[in-house]
Amino acid sequence: MAESITITDNRNGQSLEIPLENGGVSASDFSKLLPGVWFYDPGLTATAACESAVTFLDGDAGILRYRGYPIEQLAEDSTFLEVAYLLLNGELPTTTEYEVWEQEVTLHTFIHENVRKRFLEGFHYDAHPMGMLVSAVAALSTFYLDAKDIFDPESRDKQIIRLIAKMPTLAAAAHRFSVGMPFVYPDNSLPFTSNFLSMMWKIAEPRFEADPVLARALDVLFILHADHEQNCSTTAMRVVGSSHADPYSCCAAACAALYGPRHGGANEAVIRMLTEIGSLDNVPSFVEAVKQGHGRLQGFGHRVYKSYDPRAKIIKRTADEVFSITGKNPLLDIALKLEEIALKDEYFISRRLYPNVDFYSGLIYQAMGFPLEMFPVLFAIPRTAGWLAHWQELLDQDTKIARPRQLYIGPEPRDYVPIDQRRS
Ligand SMILES: CC(C)(COP(=O)(O)OP(=O)(O)OC[C@H]1O[C@@H](n2cnc3c(N)ncnc32)[C@H](O)[C@@H]1OP(=O)(O)O)[C@@H](O)C(=O)NCCC(=O)NCCS
Repeated sequence: MAESITITDNRNGQSLEIPLENGGVSASDFSKLLPGVWFYDPGLTATAACESAVTFLDGDAGILRYRGYPIEQLAEDSTFLEVAYLLLNGELPTTTEYEVWEQEVTLHTFIHENVRKRFLEGFHYDAHPMGMLVSAVAALSTFYLDAKDIFDPESRDKQIIRLIAKMPTLAAAAHRFSVGMPFVYPDNSLPFTSNFLSMMWKIAEPRFEADPVLARALDVLFILHADHEQNCSTTAMRVVGSSHADPYSCCAAACAALYGPRHGGANEAVIRMLTEIGSLDNVPSFVEAVKQGHGRLQGFGHRVYKSYDPRAKIIKRTADEVFSITGKNPLLDIALKLEEIALKDEYFISRRLYPNVDFYSGLIYQAMGFPLEMFPVLFAIPRTAGWLAHWQELLDQDTKIARPRQLYIGPEPRDYVPIDQRRS
């Protein structure tokens, strides 16, 4: 069977054979036969907007790989910093490469004092930490003017290291400010995740020692969230990056996309849903209500995964490890019951709705003491590695500026009417 399709323009009978490559067709091939005709695809659900070698995702089979490595193996054996290196460089580092990378990131964890004093402390006392993060990341571009040299490899590498290194510092600073606690400087004798936990929780002790089980659990969560191919925030990163804006401005746009409840806010919605359900007895009636069209089962279903989200499997085990230290999150039993009922129910089976990564991540973050407002911020820290990997790839591919078409549905041409002659 030929790996091609033939389209015919019925207006003039002309036909064109277009090759099928990787299950898709090139829009520019279509355009040869149909100049001026475009594809209507809101949400870009059927459009590949780029070529990418970063992440492979097969939603039907429940497969996720970074640079070819299965997410299960990375979550088991790797660290977030190593995964960040892999995403950005395409290969796992050698020992020497890893040591240099870790050292570089560690040496760039401090933020300019004015970022803290002028920006972060300038926010209203109850500012949302994600709003603070979006703005602070954008503000960084005003501190590093060399960031505009996006085609200078040395400058590019430097901004990437700065962003990976400073995100935890900004994230923790945003939290501390929003709860009225003093800023904690990075402790560069600590590994990446423990350093972040120190900046989050340190009070008066000379040195904050994170529980190693919790530090490792957070590292695993960071690995799971480091990239997810062309999601909304990565697309924002690529779209803004295509205008050749500096990486801080691009990352701020990506953070803003992540702020929305349809993207970075889903695990918060899970916690709110479980809290609303309140007890095991209420689970069956809640599921029935969802089936009758009253709301959705938060943390279930995915635009791409139509089988069990591979990250959700890993996270379940991480949850057990965290709860062995923190005590069980009281909402866990409700979550498990919900999952058990839904996975046996025809409504969810026929629609291929399975738990996604957000179903359990919120329970873990909550058990570790993170407030709900910090959930999208916790997502942004590791996803910065993915965003930057895509940004680099985009610049190396020298792609066109993103500029989609539209279907105009507004009024036909009409003449301006002076205000005193308009109908009231
Ligand atoms: C993630 C999500 C937006 C994907 O949506 P989508 O692929 O566009 O799927 P659709 O919205 O077209 O839904 C398809 C069908 O499944 C149903 N459905 C999808 N997710 C559902 C959920 N979480 N609970 C109940 N029903 C759901 C829809 O009602 C629809 O049913 P219908 O065919 O009878 O109308 C959606 O599953 C959802 O809202 N999930 C809850 C929020 C969430 O967990 N988001 C985090 C994603 S990582």
